[in-house]
Amino acid sequence: MNETDPNRPLADRVALVTGAASGIGRATAIRFVHDGATVVAADIDTSGLDRLAAELGPSVHPVECDVTSESSVESACAVAAPLGGLHIAVANAGRGTYSPIVDHPTDEWRSIIDLCLTGVYLTVKHAARAMRDGGSIITISSLNGTQPSAGMSAYCAAKAGVMMFTKVAAMELGARGIRVNAIAPGLVETNATSTFFLIPGVVDEFVENTTLGRFAQPDDIAAMAAFLAGPDSGFVSGAVMAVDGGASTKRYPDLPAAFARLGGANE
Ligand SMILES: NC(=O)c1ccc[n+]([C@@H]2O[C@H](COP(=O)([O-])OP(=O)(O)OC[C@H]3O[C@@H](n4cnc5c(N)ncnc54)[C@H](O)[C@@H]3O)[C@@H](O)[C@H]2O)c1
Repeated sequence: MNETDPNRPLADRVALVTGAASGIGRATAIRFVHDGATVVAADIDTSGLDRLAAELGPSVHPVECDVTSESSVESACAVAAPLGGLHIAVANAGRGTYSPIVDHPTDEWRSIIDLCLTGVYLTVKHAARAMRDGGSIITISSLNGTQPSAGMSAYCAAKAGVMMFTKVAAMELGARGIRVNAIAPGLVETNATSTFFLIPGVVDEFVENTTLGRFAQPDDIAAMAAFLAGPDSGFVSGAVMAVDGGASTKRYPDLPAAFARLGGANE
């Protein structure tokens, strides 16, 4: 019998959320606390973490953490031990970039792969070490893990890598009852996508290519994270959950054309 309080399905759970100072990570931390969890909120943006902690109170433990640094991730995971151990981890921190391959600065390519793919590996590795058996790990991939966008090679490659990495992690950790799943959001209105909202036509094209006819808010993604973290997804592992309003059934906006229009408008 499931004795979980339906109003607080994450009661007595401790969750690590990376990239918790903004956007999807912030919304996920808020949702988890609402659902009863204690959250270790990890980010490089300490002032954003302070704002989150001031808003949510003692259920949030802010920790400065750079997910590209193994020692930093290990330390963030260790914060959960005195709180009751780690039950949930969300490997969310990430960012995109725009550059055609032939012009791509290689340092920038490495930086995106390091953050979006290696950062997820480090988070899953150390969260799994710290985690109690029977926990839940969630990675944040993207619509771009399956749907290519010209100009976003590093990000698309990293997010596709996250999808496959998640399946391998689910295989390796299943024996401990740890479930590992990915979320693949479509366009979400956050700091990371603010440029899209400034380029004429881009968001309209996103919406036209989204079956449900809108873009997402961070809460839409947090709701899926709460489902995957909680008891109702107890037999879900190795899955990639699209939260994209059906965008994966259509096509990604033509970003090079949009940037070309923008260049023309600036001339
Ligand atoms: N917004 C979207 O449309 C969208 C769509 C698909 C996937 N995603 C993914 O969702 C995740 C969250 O993105 P968002 O839109 O909320 O962006 P955001 O910019 O609002 O938040 C990202 C957070 O990650 C933090 N961060 C950056 N580098 C870090 C590092 N090295 N270590 C720790 N924290 C770091 C930032 O400080 C920031 O607080 C990312 O992985 C992104 O790729 C976003």
